[in-house]
Amino acid sequence: MCGIVGYTGKRPVVDILLDGLEQLEYRGYDSSGVALKCSESIKVYKAEGKLKNLREELAPHAYELTKSTSGIGHIRWATHGSPTVVNAHPHTCNCGNLVIVHNGIIENYKELRAELEAKGCKFKSQTDTETVAHLVASIYGEVRNLTKAVQLATKKLEGAYALCIMHNDEPGVIVATKRNAPLIIGVGENEFYIASDVPAFIKHTKKAIYLNDNQVATVTPDALKLEDENGMIISPKVEQLPWEPVALSKMGYKHFMLKEIHEQPDVIRNILVGKLHTSDTPIVLDEVKLTKQTLKDLNRIQIIACGTSLHAAMVGKYIIEGFCGIPVDVEASSEYIYRKTVTDAHTLVIGVSQSGETADTLTAIKQSKSRGSHILIITNRPDSAMAREADSLVPVSAGIEVSVAATKSYVAQLTSFYLLALYMAEVKGTMEQAELTALKAEMLILPQKIEQILAHKDEIQRCARKYSNTRDFIYIARGINYPTALEGALKLKEISYINATGYPAGELKHGPIAMLDETMPVLSILMKGSVYEKLLSNSEEAKARNARMVALTNSTDPKLDDLFDFIIRVPEVNELLSPIIAVIPLQLIAYYIAEFLGKDVDQPRNLAKSVTVE
Ligand code: F6R
Repeated sequence: MCGIVGYTGKRPVVDILLDGLEQLEYRGYDSSGVALKCSESIKVYKAEGKLKNLREELAPHAYELTKSTSGIGHIRWATHGSPTVVNAHPHTCNCGNLVIVHNGIIENYKELRAELEAKGCKFKSQTDTETVAHLVASIYGEVRNLTKAVQLATKKLEGAYALCIMHNDEPGVIVATKRNAPLIIGVGENEFYIASDVPAFIKHTKKAIYLNDNQVATVTPDALKLEDENGMIISPKVEQLPWEPVALSKMGYKHFMLKEIHEQPDVIRNILVGKLHTSDTPIVLDEVKLTKQTLKDLNRIQIIACGTSLHAAMVGKYIIEGFCGIPVDVEASSEYIYRKTVTDAHTLVIGVSQSGETADTLTAIKQSKSRGSHILIITNRPDSAMAREADSLVPVSAGIEVSVAATKSYVAQLTSFYLLALYMAEVKGTMEQAELTALKAEMLILPQKIEQILAHKDEIQRCARKYSNTRDFIYIARGINYPTALEGALKLKEISYINATGYPAGELKHGPIAMLDETMPVLSILMKGSVYEKLLSNSEEAKARNARMVALTNSTDPKLDDLFDFIIRVPEVNELLSPIIAVIPLQLIAYYIAEFLGKDVDQPRNLAKSVTVE
């Protein structure tokens, strides 16, 4: 959440910062700003809303700013204070000589603010960040050295931060530091980049230094000095990034989300390469570093995640318990970290995260690691902070996901869970060979089945249009597709702002059924298998309350024609694999409703793709 970019070198800085911020727009897009070192002073430009507004703000000054070769920029997802120009970063001290950009939350900012106000600092914004600007500036007044001032100031900060700071009296110098928020330095020829994420500078350099917590980097065009918080010199580890610059293109699709939905068959194919060769050969998961013995000794698994990744985790629980007979708990990371969790060396802790940097999940992982659990991370970012904590790393290889609403990364997480559960079942010998072979054979043809659904998307679009005027939407399912109902509802909420809720269908009559009348659409995820008949009865109960019934089904049962007003059919699939198939039409329904309503599909209001604050 929030993106930081910094540059010091010999080239004009403005476009480097703006292009870098554009690559980080997935982290927030409610306001943005840059601070540029000019001959006499540091100039700050800010704008509310999307980055294009900042570009417009800077356009009239383009010529005069070409001489500026160092600066910092920020794209914001508001935590403290509404998304206004005043609250946008960079923030400054009272005289404007010190500028700062920040990602994270300073938890003790109120106390610090009171102290600084008592000393005469005048605050302009409601942000926690401005406190750091005044704090560093007041220490700078005594020590006259920006690095030293930052080291002393950060000792007083509680919470999470990635910071980039400049001072007018130290031209060309940027000081960067972090704690529990990402910050990476790109190393060029007589130039350095600083950013929250690699895409911000990958087109300029592939050499990078990942800052560790509490390290302080001081960069000038010609040198980098890395120290710890006490000023001890650290030798920097420069890594070669295995990245290619990606031209983010919609490839003719109207939105990234639609493109990413269409990429899902290939995402599954890519994941299976090298891991699942044929239905008769064992799964290869070299990434899992648990020995055969440790796997056998495991008495418990905990899976922790947030949002869409949490829904993948819920499917993971269902199949790992079913295939391997190991008890699995699933918990939202934000709940896990604030209670006394029981975890030890016989517990496998699995963290699931598209971005690999979600603050709550990262904290949870660190907690369980300190208690001796083996940490297995399923992530789309093998270079992320979470991946760096992993004992076993399962990269989901979905490629960059631009749309804020997760689609292909979810299907990739599910695919990875299937591989993991089948692999563990093979090692532990907990599944019949025939069942293993049948499931593996069907996994290999999932991509074709998704392609069949995508080929009939017009029908789903028709359904979406029919229900796009609704204020509420209920999704029901049972068993392994209960998480699919939650995910379908989450997708719809996120991008259309319709109040959608997923329920385990058996729970309907314990309360939610009171909501049903002729205005309420109820979508039933009716996959053939162990709970089909039960769910059919629950759907009848909803129909009896006049709800507008929609079925998502792989059944051709003629009874359904009387029960449902609209039926979306998907290909036959083994119940155990059906979450991968069932979610595709739900992603499309959410997409088409949002598109029909004219919403900003790829960048929905109030959201950010990477949630780096707790
Ligand atoms: C929903 C969505 C979010 C994320 C959640 C966790 O479309 O994208 O709910 O799933 O913020 O993010 P990661 O997976 O990066 O940990």
